Amino acid sequence: MARKNIILCGFMGSGKSTIGNLLSKKMGMSFVDMDKYIEKQENKTVTQIFEENGEEYFREKEREASRLLGSKRGLIIAAGGGTLTFPENVEAFRENGRIVLLNVSPETVAERLKSDNTRPLLEKPDKLLAIKELFEARMPLYKSAADIVVDADQSPMQVCMEIMSSIH
Ligand code: S3P
Repeated sequence: MARKNIILCGFMGSGKSTIGNLLSKKMGMSFVDMDKYIEKQENKTVTQIFEENGEEYFREKEREASRLLGSKRGLIIAAGGGTLTFPENVEAFRENGRIVLLNVSPETVAERLKSDNTRPLLEKPDKLLAIKELFEARMPLYKSAADIVVDADQSPMQVCMEIMSSIH
């Protein structure tokens, strides 16, 4: 039987896509980026979905993707930053996978995303404040969803090594 999925969880800018790509090559598993998966299905960017259909519609697509991807095996999955704040998505992924939290500081996120405009939830006049408020609300949820927590302020290679050594 194929290996259990590895689901990367964490805040926007925590490196889920970068780490997921690297880890999939190192471990010989397929990589799925949930935001890209939804964008492809909807033929729109996440920003367009939020603008044209609203956040609730996006969350519904995210739930559907969680159920579908969570029923498979052998995947490295980069969840969206909001995905694992919903208990039903955590349940869907837990069935066949292990959830890895990429733990970063709000300051690292702010630095990484300072010129990014693809995250509708952070398009606020005070981006650092928006990050800090969401962080506070989400961190307890991420921590309770996670099977493994890694320090993601390190380089992508170091993060991958840490994940691989805690998974084997
Ligand atoms: C979101 C994070 C984004 C994307 C959407 C909502 C969130 O994904 O799913 O903008 O609620 O944190 P990334 O974490 O990949 O940026």
